[in-house]
Amino acid sequence: MTNRKDDHVKEAAANYGEIKTSDFDHVRFVHQSIGQLAEEDIDLSSHWLGQDFPLPFYINAMTGGSTWTKEINGRLAHLARELKVPMASGSLSAALRDPKQEDSFRIIREIYLDGFVLANVGADRDGQDAKRAVEILQADALQVHLNLPQEIVMPEGDRDFRKIKDHLLDIQAQVDVPIVVKEVGFGMSRESMEELAQLGFSTLDISGRGGTNFAQIENQRRADQDFAELFDWGQTTVVSLLEASQLREDLTILASGGIRQPLDLVKALSLGAQAVGMSGYFLQLVLNHDLETSVQKVQNFIEKTKLIYLLLNCRNSQELKHLDLILSDGPWHWAQLRGIDAQALAQRSQSKSQD
Ligand code: FNR
Repeated sequence: MTNRKDDHVKEAAANYGEIKTSDFDHVRFVHQSIGQLAEEDIDLSSHWLGQDFPLPFYINAMTGGSTWTKEINGRLAHLARELKVPMASGSLSAALRDPKQEDSFRIIREIYLDGFVLANVGADRDGQDAKRAVEILQADALQVHLNLPQEIVMPEGDRDFRKIKDHLLDIQAQVDVPIVVKEVGFGMSRESMEELAQLGFSTLDISGRGGTNFAQIENQRRADQDFAELFDWGQTTVVSLLEASQLREDLTILASGGIRQPLDLVKALSLGAQAVGMSGYFLQLVLNHDLETSVQKVQNFIEKTKLIYLLLNCRNSQELKHLDLILSDGPWHWAQLRGIDAQALAQRSQSKSQD
């Protein structure tokens, strides 16, 4: 039998870059001709979970639970340490089932001793399990993932979701580090986010459709039935951020899912995200390059991000949130039907100047 964690990495890496168009292409900035800043004015820092981070992105949840994924976690942790970015582990379920797998996760903390590390469990786990996951990694925060479509397509997937809410509450009661509730590439709706907020969760990673696709990955792992009709399930990252724009302002929204390039990252921040997670991007880096080359490639990514801030005349990510954004195509249509004011978004810089 093949190892599920190895399968996920293999399939995710093989599918990476397959998606050539994205809802990010249907979000445009309004170009302004008169610049006012210099590159040295630009500050890329982000603030979330009560911490300041020098960069606006993090390495999102991926792996652990086998010999090969231990090595990948090691490479990712080295990269996180060089870049000083937060890093999430993959789901610790494998280690909770079999303590021999713990070291494939612990390697992250061994390498990134003083880094900001997030543990990860599914909402099929209770508070005790979540607490143990945090202990194994000496984690600074915990991600709890929601992944219904993945479970549905997964041959050995869960078929009973009745305990999700109880588990979320139990995890909240027992875990004493900050919690991020995240999706895994299917996005979130306003209703789900409101419900999570009512349950007391204030940091959500909307992880939308558009990048790594777990309906597709799980389908590639099964021979009996074809679930291709679910490949398009869920809200894209852009649409999820539009849904989030209608929520209480005190919620912290993190974005992930299909960030292909710095311009996508800047658009996600402008649409309201406090920071942006990337999985597929970092996975293909560490699988295809040595540490030095990976660091250099991310430095280029950072440099380009800065230049886009400069082009937009924005000193920091807070200023990005007041820029006019023009929606077209799918995101525009979604906004119309869901009562999201696309026209106000296209003119929001004016309301800022009246503040
Ligand atoms: C993931 N992702 C994930 N998420 C999670 O919460 N727990 C997990 O164990 C995993 N496992 C996992 C394995 C691999 C190989 C990948 C690539 C991804 C999902 C991930 O955190 C993210 O939500 C999605 O991948 C969407 O982001 P990208 O990949 O499009 O940047």
